[in-house]
Amino acid sequence: MSDKQRKILVTSALPYANGSIHMGHLVEYLQTDIWVRFQKMRGHLCTYVCASDAHGTPIMIKAREQGVTPEALTEAFSEEFKRDFADFGVDFDNYHTTHSSENEALTVEMYEALRARGDIYTKTIEQAYDEKEGMFLPDRFVRGTCPVCKSEDQYGDSCEVCGSTYSPSDLIDPVSVVSGTTPVKRESEHYFFRLGNYETMLRDWMRDAGLDKNMLAKLEEWFEAGLQDWDISRDAPYFGFAIPGTKDKFFYVWLDAPVGYPASFKNLCERRDDLDFDDYWRPGNDTEVFHFIGKDIMYFHTLFWPAVLHGSGFRTPTSVFAHGFLTVNGKKMSKSRGTFIKARTYLDNLEPSYLRYYYAAKLGPTIEDIDLNLEDFVARVNSDLVGKLVNIASRCAGFINKRFEGRLADTLPDESLFKEVADAAEPVASFMENREYSKAMRQIMLLADAANRYIDEHKPWVMIKDEDRQAEVHGVCTQGINLFRSLMIYLSPVLPAVSDKARAFLNEPAWQWSDATKPLLFTSINKFEPLLTRVESKQVEKMVEESKEAPAPVEDGEPVADDEPTISIDDFMKVDLRIARIEKAEPVEGADKLLQLTLDVGDFKRQVFAGIKAAYAPDDLIGRHVIVVANLAPRKMRFGVSEGMVLAAGPGGKDIFLLSADDGAVPGMRVK
Ligand code: MSP
Ligand code: ZN
Repeated sequence: MSDKQRKILVTSALPYANGSIHMGHLVEYLQTDIWVRFQKMRGHLCTYVCASDAHGTPIMIKAREQGVTPEALTEAFSEEFKRDFADFGVDFDNYHTTHSSENEALTVEMYEALRARGDIYTKTIEQAYDEKEGMFLPDRFVRGTCPVCKSEDQYGDSCEVCGSTYSPSDLIDPVSVVSGTTPVKRESEHYFFRLGNYETMLRDWMRDAGLDKNMLAKLEEWFEAGLQDWDISRDAPYFGFAIPGTKDKFFYVWLDAPVGYPASFKNLCERRDDLDFDDYWRPGNDTEVFHFIGKDIMYFHTLFWPAVLHGSGFRTPTSVFAHGFLTVNGKKMSKSRGTFIKARTYLDNLEPSYLRYYYAAKLGPTIEDIDLNLEDFVARVNSDLVGKLVNIASRCAGFINKRFEGRLADTLPDESLFKEVADAAEPVASFMENREYSKAMRQIMLLADAANRYIDEHKPWVMIKDEDRQAEVHGVCTQGINLFRSLMIYLSPVLPAVSDKARAFLNEPAWQWSDATKPLLFTSINKFEPLLTRVESKQVEKMVEESKEAPAPVEDGEPVADDEPTISIDDFMKVDLRIARIEKAEPVEGADKLLQLTLDVGDFKRQVFAGIKAAYAPDDLIGRHVIVVANLAPRKMRFGVSEGMVLAAGPGGKDIFLLSADDGAVPGMRVK
């Protein structure tokens, strides 16, 4: 490393300790871990801390349901998380909890400092209160009918059907999720943080932080909407830290959650002589602090958190890196489809290296969502990792081991090919630094292709039969092993376990990034052990099978509790389905799939363009009674306006079947 050693502190968001780690979370922990390992290999002093997020109402209620204390619940989850992370190779320097003495002390210190500056004030607000449970209800814990579209069973803060936002007191027929009783309104004094005082400071901060442009756009939107003061208190009972000087008031979980970052670091400092708390958390030092987060928690990390830090005399983060959300096979993870895959279920079936590589191959520096396509996953891992990377070594290692007493030759026959790979060190490093992992992976795989081509061209397995060409085989295999070695060094942050095995094979101490530019020659290596095996589709299928949970049973007309979007009965009632008689059916000039239908719907007529030409001759349709969506908004098509839709079943083309009505149904009748 030529540059000066940087001192970098890195965090991932603190997972809520009331549910298992799943594939979605892992996007973040793997993205961060790869970056940290990369920085360490570059010779920087990089420290990675995390913690469990232990506070808040959902955790308190879950503990109550299970008849345990919130401490016991969150500790049990923390233990589970630590095992999951370790098994995925996520290597924290410290994993702590927000329910800690360090966190409480820092949170109180920040709060007192903000209060001394006049940034905290109190105001009486009205909130939903559950009299049976004796507790105030967060918006999410009240459900009822949407005041706007009248959809039933919506959250207290927003309607999933029409997207309106409102307050729980606007809900029609509200009920408490905790006790099932009707909440009442009750007044209470709350503590607020004057976020509005920090607009200029935040604008300066976001410019310096070099945020991704989509994040900047989001921030701009928030500034335009106006920064609202932030309600930072909650009334007892609450699992959190008591606000000093109050009776029965607690800090809102999102106030102390990010304080978990410096608190975890502080806890680590007690064990590490080379780390000093103030060096990383007070202004005016040349250390760097980066937070990796998901895009859903940007508001907390790019507005509240820098403002709180700045206002209370702490340093602000150097930058915040947000990633997008994970979909599996193009859709939201789903328990019924078996795509809500827990970390442990993955580990029971598959190698962590596969997922680390797959995410790296997909990840960029933006908040774009990423998809785990399970077929692509199998194909990609087999072709890149097994077919390209590991293949280089396995094609050369046997000859070195068996024919050359496990010693590498003392020169490389093709210096320029080695240089091509060595010269990638800085470009690949800069992709890694900028979290352009997918670009780094692409470049590494192109070089792996070149290495395999080299071996294909020289065919050591043919030369070996010729007594006079043994030295040449030695050279070619030494070349191959060295190309493999440099690429493996670049991949070490992504594939630490494979990298460790490769190092053991090459008989080398820990690698630094720059080692990739110097060949390994005239030295003994060890017996080659297979580094990675192919993924089999059936392992993936088994994992999906084990992840499947039956959808919750339907009771008393309750909607099925799964993440498949549902519509309410009211939505369904909005669809005006009618019996229609096909009066006319004609081909449409210039459209090979469409027929233009003129429908008699009793009191009115409708013109509809239907994609059924491959399945029906126009003349056969005349006089048929079909079902039409009569209140579909008219759509302008290239050939005219379509004023409805006729119902049909089937995949399309020739396989499309119009639904028709039995005798007795007459045009205009409502379909129920
Ligand atoms: N406890 C808060 C974070 C507090 S940080 C001071 C929280 N916890 S979480 O468990 O819900 O999420 C932890 C991290 O995982 C978040 O950054 C979140 O964005 C990320 N992800 C959770 N589900 C995810 C996907 N499906 N896809 C990608 N990331 C996701 O939020
Ligand atoms: Zn609604």
